[in-house]
Amino acid sequence: MELFPRPRTEIAPGAVHVPGWLSPQWQQRLVSACREWARPPAGLRAARLPNGARMSVQTVCLGWHWYPYRYSKTVDDGDGAPVKPLPGWLAELGRQALAEACPVAGPYDPDIALVNFYDAGARMGMHQDRDELSRAPVISLSLGDECVFRFGNTENRKQPYTDVELRSGDLFVFGGPSRMAYHGVPRTLPWTADPAIGMSSGRLNITLRESGMD
Ligand code: SIN
Ligand code: MN
Repeated sequence: MELFPRPRTEIAPGAVHVPGWLSPQWQQRLVSACREWARPPAGLRAARLPNGARMSVQTVCLGWHWYPYRYSKTVDDGDGAPVKPLPGWLAELGRQALAEACPVAGPYDPDIALVNFYDAGARMGMHQDRDELSRAPVISLSLGDECVFRFGNTENRKQPYTDVELRSGDLFVFGGPSRMAYHGVPRTLPWTADPAIGMSSGRLNITLRESGMD
């Protein structure tokens, strides 16, 4: 129960924030699924950027493995193992999320999930999700610590942007004219997670996407 209910907000055309969309039971289920997916082979790791630096965010992928800046069916920048499959129930959750946020959207069949883990110091710079061929919406589900999610414009990393607080259970969808908007996570708010969902610290974010690839 929220003391002050947060309203659903359209941050920009096609970008919708639905606070508290996931029930505590769903949050628990997703946290324990993320723990399983994080195990090797093809488990959680920090990708290396072209400049040689490691990302502070750690990632495990389902369906297609992402590394800067492409997708592969195997973990080419790690242990070489086949990427884990994206379970049907997670794709279905993505469809329900899209129906909730954008009832007029067409059919949706996500075949990529990127699971990002943020420890207390992790952040993600402003970027576009541009390695997919499909321009279907991106579905984002947040678990654990709160964060500041910066949602910007489609032109560049700078202003105008809007800072949105994403909390555990929140849904954020960006599609249509906002599909190529720059976005990032300038900081998390450590120790705001509710241990009842099965994680006492850190933040998880799951993004679902359509690859448009065979
Ligand atoms: C991402 O942009 O891939 C992740 C966004 C988030 O962690 O909320
Ligand atoms: Mn992104």
